[in-house]
Amino acid sequence: MVTTPVREREARRNAGTAVCPGSYDPVTFGHLDIIGRAAGVFDELIVGVVDQPVRKRQPLFTADERVAFIESEVAEYGNVQVKPFDTLLVDFAREHGAKAIVKGLRAISDFEYEFEMNQLNRKMAPDIESIYLMAAPAFSFLSSSGVKELAMFGGDISGLVPDPVAARLQEELKR
Ligand code: PNS
Repeated sequence: MVTTPVREREARRNAGTAVCPGSYDPVTFGHLDIIGRAAGVFDELIVGVVDQPVRKRQPLFTADERVAFIESEVAEYGNVQVKPFDTLLVDFAREHGAKAIVKGLRAISDFEYEFEMNQLNRKMAPDIESIYLMAAPAFSFLSSSGVKELAMFGGDISGLVPDPVAARLQEELKR
């Protein structure tokens, strides 16, 4: 008799590799929620940290530091790797044999940008599917830029980002 756990393992094996890309400047609990949920669906998850200013924004943290923040939070998952990339997202996905790009969606405001990115990525790589996970309600307001703004004006950012990230943010923004 086929038991449920075996079926679940089959399903996981078929899910293959996905990339979960972003600037992560810095990573928030909202990102970590999406990463954790995606890691539960795919066999392997590659978190891709953009090592290029996108949308004309200069990141506050270096790519190495952003990678390290995430690495220490995902250490407990056996199937998640974190890597910087400075190429087209679809090339990064191909390089890692990923068949899906996973992104989080918070609100309608995310939709317009993600819709555009989806069309562009789909045109370049129709074989790579983009999959969107809805943000958990607790994180649907949370963004890296919002956290940076709060931190800059002395707001309380505990519970929004991991403690080591909060400490580094406060240090960085003091300078
Ligand atoms: O919202 P983010 O975190 O700034 O998203 C970054 C990223 C790379 C996921 C988004 O800009 C995207 O989907 N870009 C697709 C186009 C592309 O490949 N850009 C090059 C990035 S190095």
